[in-house]
Amino acid sequence: MNYKVAFAEVLYDQLKDHIEKGKLMNMIEIPKFANMGDLAFPCFELAKIYRKSPQTIAFELIENMKLSNLFQSAEAVNGYVNVFLNKNEASSLTIQEVISKKERYGEVNIGNQDVITIDFSSPNIAKPFSMGHLRSTVIGNALALIAEKCGYKAIRINHLGDWGTQFGKLIVAYKMWGKEQQVKENPIKELLKLYVQFHEEAEQDPSFNDQGRLWFKKLEEGNEEAIELWEWFRDESLKEFSKIYALLGVRFDSTHGEAFYNDKMDQVVQLLEEKQLLKESDGAKVVEINKDLPPCLIKKKDGTTLYATRDLAAAIYRQNHYGFVQSLYVVGHEQTLHFRQLFEVLLKMDYSWHEGLKHIPFGMMLKDGKKMSTRKGKVVLLEEVLNDAINLAKRSIMEKNPGLEDKESVARQVGVGAVIFHDLKNYRLNDIEFSLDDMLRFEGETGPYVQYTHARATSILKKGKYKERNGEFTFSDDEAWAIIKNLMAFPTAVKRAFEEYDPSQIAKYVLELSKAFNKYYGSVRILAELEHKQARLSLVFAVQIVLKEGLRLLGIKAPTEM
Ligand code: ARG
Repeated sequence: MNYKVAFAEVLYDQLKDHIEKGKLMNMIEIPKFANMGDLAFPCFELAKIYRKSPQTIAFELIENMKLSNLFQSAEAVNGYVNVFLNKNEASSLTIQEVISKKERYGEVNIGNQDVITIDFSSPNIAKPFSMGHLRSTVIGNALALIAEKCGYKAIRINHLGDWGTQFGKLIVAYKMWGKEQQVKENPIKELLKLYVQFHEEAEQDPSFNDQGRLWFKKLEEGNEEAIELWEWFRDESLKEFSKIYALLGVRFDSTHGEAFYNDKMDQVVQLLEEKQLLKESDGAKVVEINKDLPPCLIKKKDGTTLYATRDLAAAIYRQNHYGFVQSLYVVGHEQTLHFRQLFEVLLKMDYSWHEGLKHIPFGMMLKDGKKMSTRKGKVVLLEEVLNDAINLAKRSIMEKNPGLEDKESVARQVGVGAVIFHDLKNYRLNDIEFSLDDMLRFEGETGPYVQYTHARATSILKKGKYKERNGEFTFSDDEAWAIIKNLMAFPTAVKRAFEEYDPSQIAKYVLELSKAFNKYYGSVRILAELEHKQARLSLVFAVQIVLKEGLRLLGIKAPTEM
């Protein structure tokens, strides 16, 4: 039973003429201090409607309230209705619910299996996978998992940056200085080198840039040599990216990148023309957006298309193909202008579905306070970062638990989990400081800490020879109650994480649950042959289930031992 829903029902009984149920649900708060009740309903907004003071309203609500036995009491304090849960009843119901639903606990069906497309990761081929792309990958993956938990059908799209003038440049560079064998051995590094060399030469001799444009035009026109080289660069890059996705445990439903839209752009341009939205500007074609935004460039002077043109085609294709109700773009905040322009153009085209389009921006990954950049040799190769994390995790496992079976796979789960958690525990718009040492600590707010708590719960269950059993679960200690309250809050955390596109809600949630559980572990003799042992073990089981599921929603594995 979701206790918030139960409280909302009770209030709704008296307020239904003035307030919607959903709105009422959202108004309910969880007080900071336990002595102020387990839930609180503020009456300030109602004061205008009823023309009475909030405190009077709170009193009247309480007077006529029919509390179910899930609640123990209610009081009116400073314009709030505070209610206290019946601890025994709430504990039993919560544990029963978690244990019977298992990993399905926390599902909130708001999605009705409607489709949400999620454009995430989307690295550029022939370039290293950057920290920004890592952020996009882990945030997007978590959002897909959270959307599914909320009853949506998530379509994961990797909109590869595999088209554009830079490939003209790369073809020129390869034809001049490239060596097939070297590219085969080390594709990303070699291609990047060629790209950098191109820019150095072009600084001296701008005619290189004309060559680059010419070859991109050839590519757009389907020139055989150009296409062949481009396909090769693409395949080699994808092979490299797949290694990272395999490490992270991320998959996609579509890897249609920008190139896929090459033959779909004429139609878009035609549509824009029909709707009389295209204007000439210095030989180029643009859509003017008024407001405070610059016009959106659709076609360059030489007739080639742009990033925005391909995104327009992609948005329309996705709507026709998937019929999404929402379409998310998990892309760094430096592209905010691009997405505002894109969405405005689609609005001008009169597509009602433009409302479902959402840019989900995020901040930068910093090292020593500076942006981690992939330009000019200062490359941070992501695969190396992940492997470093895995090796560090292995070292700490060797110290703490040398007898552990399957060290390799646990080290991988812990190392990768640490990197993911470090990212997702922060609100996505904040910049984050990259530090392997911080990520991998077993104490503090880290992935390994949560994983370790889960492993601890698993081992207690094993020691206690726990067998799943239903019944009344009552406790005599406050530490248990703190855990129960956390368990009850899981569905709300899931819903909030979805509605705010904010996986950090789940990360913070599993941290809180871990803290409450470790406090319990430190002060209660769980396995002692005393009263309530079955209840204690069932509580541990419920914690294990919810921690594992919370980590799963973040894209993190939960080893049973570590
Ligand atoms: N490839 C782009 C970049 O690395 C990101 C693409 C994001 N998705 C999109 N539909 N524009 O900057």
